Amino acid sequence: MVIPKTYSFTRYLAAKKTVDDRSFNRRVLGSLTRALANNMAKLPIEVLEVGAGIGTMVERVLAWKVLGNAAYTAIDGDPDVIVEACRRLPRWASGCGYRLSAQSPEKMVLKKTDQDISVEFEAIEFGDFVKRERARRSWDLLLANAFLDLIEVPSALPRLFSLLRPGGLVYFTINFDGVTILQPEIDPALDRQIVTLYHRTMGNRVTSGKRSGDSCTGRHLFANLRACGVELLDAGSSDWVLFAGFNGYPEEEAYFLHHIIHTIHTALNGSSELDANLFASWIKERHNQVEQGRLIYIAHQLDFFGRVSGQRQNSPVKYTTQRRSIQAVKGNSVESTETETKD
Ligand SMILES: C[S@@+](CC[C@H](N)C(=O)[O-])C[C@H]1O[C@@H](n2cnc3c(N)ncnc32)[C@H](O)[C@@H]1O
Repeated sequence: MVIPKTYSFTRYLAAKKTVDDRSFNRRVLGSLTRALANNMAKLPIEVLEVGAGIGTMVERVLAWKVLGNAAYTAIDGDPDVIVEACRRLPRWASGCGYRLSAQSPEKMVLKKTDQDISVEFEAIEFGDFVKRERARRSWDLLLANAFLDLIEVPSALPRLFSLLRPGGLVYFTINFDGVTILQPEIDPALDRQIVTLYHRTMGNRVTSGKRSGDSCTGRHLFANLRACGVELLDAGSSDWVLFAGFNGYPEEEAYFLHHIIHTIHTALNGSSELDANLFASWIKERHNQVEQGRLIYIAHQLDFFGRVSGQRQNSPVKYTTQRRSIQAVKGNSVESTETETKD
């Protein structure tokens, strides 16, 4: 492909789908699958996804067939991505043989053998959603893909967990964890400096006056989940690994790589710590490497699967309280030791 002159976030999210598909930690996904299979008695399973983007996680959760009868709520703060999600899902679903009935552009029911799933998209900031829904509704499963590294996790998690039923499940995937590798090297010292400064911009990000990012979100989630009383049932790496084969990069992944280089460019443009000319040449060379199929890009990430306390919470609880709760993990299977009732 020709080096793009303009960049589109929705195109980036669409291009990211195959990259994420390859990267999810299969063992962690297996743990989620078994836990859901054991919960199938309580139907429909109510699923909430935050930071859902253009709805690619909805598509893959349906394709994974981990949900039979379910009500799926997908929210995102950016109205443009929600418009795209509402356009994409019906097309994707009919291509996969689902029978679709739409109640509105944002609300639809998808049916296929063994699957009956209602999906509702909404453009809303997650904090506003929590405030509105906390006293009204609760969910069984909370999903967030490539989202938690963009927000202030310690204050966000207790709010998000307040929307879960006692014993609800959490599946947090593709959480960036502080390692970016770009090969081949251009200038080892400059390469290192650019990656270090780029990671620093993630930690310094401020949205609406609040810190909203952490370049080591993945590793910090162990403590952050524990502080909220989450029983961690599984965790593992979900690194992005991109390289070109004989036929170049798969699918739209050349665009994905150009977008990543563009993101680094935008984040560090004008940095007083970089020589502007050297940085411009470095960016140009990285784009050229994509064009020539030479760029290898690796980002270290982590996936998590856990279960919240048997008590409904509005604030973090101590991990020791949680240990007495609900979950027994036997071998590879996850068994609930408590009967759940709806609120
Ligand atoms: C990196 S994208 C990932 C999107 C999608 N989960 C995926 O993997 O394709 C992060 C998404 O989080 C959304 N987001 C960021 N902060 C948010 C907030 N405070 N409330 C709701 N959505 C937010 C962004 O609009 C964006 O669509």
